[in-house]
Amino acid sequence: MRVAIIGTGYVGLTTGVCLAFMGHTVSCLDSDEAKIKALWEGKIPIFEPFLEEVFHEALVNLTFTSTYAEAIPEAEVVFIAVGTPPTPSGAPNLEFLSQAARSIGQHITRDFVVVVNKSTVPIGSGNWVDSLLREAVASRADRSAVQFAVASNPEFLREGSALHDSLYPDRIVIGADEPRALEVLYTLYRPILDQTFTPPNFLPRPETVGAVPLLSTDLASAELIKYAANAFLALKISFINEIGLVAERVGANISEVGRGIGLDSRIGPRFLSAGIGWGGSCFGKDTAALIATAGEYGLHLPIVEAAKKINSRQRDRVVEKLLNELKILKGRTVGLLGLAFKPNTDDLREAPAIEIAQKLIDRGVRVKAHDPIAMEKFEQVYGKMGVQLCQNAEQVVEDCDAVVLVTEWNDYRELDWETLAKKMRAPLILDGRHTLDREKLTRAGVRYVSLS
Ligand code: UDX
Repeated sequence: MRVAIIGTGYVGLTTGVCLAFMGHTVSCLDSDEAKIKALWEGKIPIFEPFLEEVFHEALVNLTFTSTYAEAIPEAEVVFIAVGTPPTPSGAPNLEFLSQAARSIGQHITRDFVVVVNKSTVPIGSGNWVDSLLREAVASRADRSAVQFAVASNPEFLREGSALHDSLYPDRIVIGADEPRALEVLYTLYRPILDQTFTPPNFLPRPETVGAVPLLSTDLASAELIKYAANAFLALKISFINEIGLVAERVGANISEVGRGIGLDSRIGPRFLSAGIGWGGSCFGKDTAALIATAGEYGLHLPIVEAAKKINSRQRDRVVEKLLNELKILKGRTVGLLGLAFKPNTDDLREAPAIEIAQKLIDRGVRVKAHDPIAMEKFEQVYGKMGVQLCQNAEQVVEDCDAVVLVTEWNDYRELDWETLAKKMRAPLILDGRHTLDREKLTRAGVRYVSLS
């Protein structure tokens, strides 16, 4: 099938590359001409494991453009995957979405086109996009042959494992009020639903993956599924962090508690890792948007609100713990291991490290940091913050009064703490992700502290 994708961020580019890998002809559109030029040159603007490899395998089916007149007329399916950044009220900014919808409406030509909201958009956006398209089509002289339907196809991919999640998803959700649109999307996703494609060598199909469940719903339900899924995952993390407070007081081990409850198949083991809490572009934005949408209907969502509060308290607890251990923070040096909001990505959006670094700097602490991938981005965006970036963990720990493990990159699990401890002014580690080996560190002479 012929597909156009508007927006080449994490979601748009991954979706485009995967659909091209399935054999569809995909045109990726982005208003950022530098990005398009880079893509033509085979350069991927984001760090995402295996994206480059799949991109090169699918290249024959991919084109890139900044022009709607090039991408849209031939397309049978158009995905809108533009950014919807949060506004101060918590409601997402829909400017890029509306621009995309209007431009699509001006250029669709086929007798039936499915326009798919892939961006995480407020409930009701499907109807809104439909009205924008209708307006744009109505303003055209050649409108008679054009027919379209709007669908919602929420994205559940995680950064750092986006390719795996796209090729082997737990489910695909499609919402549309027009049955024809559901049929088109079913055909588009068939190779993934039936798992009939030949997996790339570097991303083999897990043995447990069979046919992928497809859930077809109305538009509003698909839109709400996305918010409810992200809110639930955020709740799970905040829940284990709340239990972590109790665990700390009663002398229980929160990792064991997490394992113990997660083995109950009704609860499930994932998203129960306690620590500094969630960051990233989705959980914060989507929980805020869900609360904002509910507010428009006069509803309060105390559970979701509490999850947000608990998450933000975890950042404060890092500072409290350091204060407790070091007594005086002013004039101290603290090293941060990890800047990205999670391992295997260079994404710094709502990264806990930024908030923690700022809180420490505000208290007169000298902050040093390292990240295996995200330092260049950090320098570009947060260069003026005053964080001293180091080339490796060894440089970070040098002369530190404490080191905080913020992001659980694999590189940090295997550090030689016997050697590192000697370089620190005071060998104190705050393991913000319950990821280091407490016994090994203690043997190396490091005082090990965790958040719970
Ligand atoms: C999330 C959703 O998982 C995905 O389905 C959605 O489409 C986009 O948002 P992402 O933000 O990429 O994906 O990362 P995810 O793996 O969900 O982690 C989010 C944050 O939660 C990270 O900061 C991670 O460190 C934190 N986390 C995750 C925990 O603190 N504990 C856990 O047990 C799991």
